[in-house]
This record gives sequence, structure tokens and C-alpha cells, in this order.
Amino acid sequence: MVELALPKNSKITTGKTWPKPSGSNNIRKFQIYRWSPDDGANPRVDTYFLDMDTCGPMVLDALIKIKNEIDPTLTFRRSCREGICGSCAMNIDGINTLACIYGMDEIKGDVKIYPLPHMPVVRDLIPDLTHFYAQHASIMPWLETKTNRPAKEWKQTIEDRKKLDGLYECVMCASCSTSCPSYWWNGDRYLGPAALLHAYRWIIDSRDEATGERLDELEDPFKLYRCHTIMNCTQTCPKGLNPAEAIANIKKMMLERTL
Ligand code: SF4
Ligand code: FES
Repeated sequence: MVELALPKNSKITTGKTWPKPSGSNNIRKFQIYRWSPDDGANPRVDTYFLDMDTCGPMVLDALIKIKNEIDPTLTFRRSCREGICGSCAMNIDGINTLACIYGMDEIKGDVKIYPLPHMPVVRDLIPDLTHFYAQHASIMPWLETKTNRPAKEWKQTIEDRKKLDGLYECVMCASCSTSCPSYWWNGDRYLGPAALLHAYRWIIDSRDEATGERLDELEDPFKLYRCHTIMNCTQTCPKGLNPAEAIANIKKMMLERTL
């Protein structure tokens, strides 16, 4: 079972089992975490059944079908439906991933869906990402320049632009940070893989003129060095990115500037 940041003094209970659709031989069972801040009840896991002949292939298709046709109170975030907005991140079958690009054919047996682990929950499958976003803001996720603005644009060679590949694609879904044990235990002070990947994206941008300040900011026993190269981040990233490598590169730059 997923380790969740449960509301105080609560435990997960077995919730409602909704009826199976009739007349289908292609039925799949879904077990979904539910919690509301409004009723004072413990979190629970509700069970739903879907006719897969009338359902799309992705986990998000199933969630939308459940919400539209069975239980309108089921709450989750989604927007783009194609792995771009990052809003549908959740724990599916034990993996932090994006529901809209995770196919149900990748799951054996029942489909178990929980919110991202170790985050406070706003409701059902929606984690509270306030602190996560504040950490992202803290790394100054913008181009910082000191020289006069060019008449047209900040230019970059093709080689320098290539250095941003594998970094700019991050959709800030938080799957990586919430899969990291260091972030679970020290998330108040450790920035976590997502924020550090973004920090590196600006550190190595050839147009940026605040590299020294950016590295100074990260020179801290917690912000950067609580990464113990566990690699869960890289393993889980639904966009195929490598936050662990980005963090290792920052550590290397830190070392190089002391030599
Ligand atoms: S690095 Fe990957 S898992 Fe982490 S926030 Fe970005 S897209 Fe999500
Ligand atoms: S709905 Fe946008 S990433 Fe899934």
C-alpha cells in the first residue's frame, strides 16, 4: 500500500463497493483512495467496476468514466490529456505517474489508484502542491541577466541549446519528488529532484548570468546534499527525464569551483 500523509489520527478504511455493470464480459475492478476534508470521516478505498469495452485505454479515461457515469464526487486534477500539463500525476499500481499517458494494459489485476505519496491531500486524488511550487519558485526559474537587453533576442549556439534537452521538458508533475525517500523525510528543507532539475536547467543555460549566485544558493547541507542518489526520481519520471543526473551535475559543479 502507498505511504500517504494521512490526515491526523486517521486510518484508511474499506469504503463503498459500487455495482458491476451488467451484460459485459470485459469488466475491470478499480480501487480508488477517497478522502474529504468536509465530513470528518477516515480516508477510505472505494471499489468501482467498469466495462472496458466502452472505456478508453488510459487510466485517466477510466477516472473520467467513473466520474461521469458512476460517482460524480470522485475528485482528481486533469487538463491536457496528453502528458503536457502535469496535473494528473498520481500513484497508479504503486508507481507515481501521469494518469493520462499510463495505459491500463500495463497493469496486471485490479487498478489501484492513490494520490502522490507523502503529500498532504486536498481531496481524494488531489495533493497539496503549495510547498512544492514554492520550492520551484525559490530556484529562480527564469533567465537572470545583468548585461543590457539585446535589441532582438538572447542568442544561443546550437550546442548550448542542446544542453537544455532532457531538462526543459519537465512538466512539474511532482512524480519524482514524491517518490524520493529523502524528500519524504526532509521535504521541508531538501529541494527535491524536480526543483533541482529546474535549478540545473538555469545553471547551464549559456544566456544566464547568475550561475555563481545560483550555486551559492544551493550550497547547503539540506537543499542539495540530501540527495543520496537513490534514483527513484529517474526511475519514475513519466517524461523519461533524469533528475538524478541533473543533481549529480550540480554537485560536480560545486566541487569543481572549490578546486
Ligand atoms: S522531472 Fe519528471 S517526474 Fe519530475 S516533475 Fe519533471 S516531469 Fe515530473
Ligand atoms: S492531463 Fe495533463 S499531464 Fe495528464
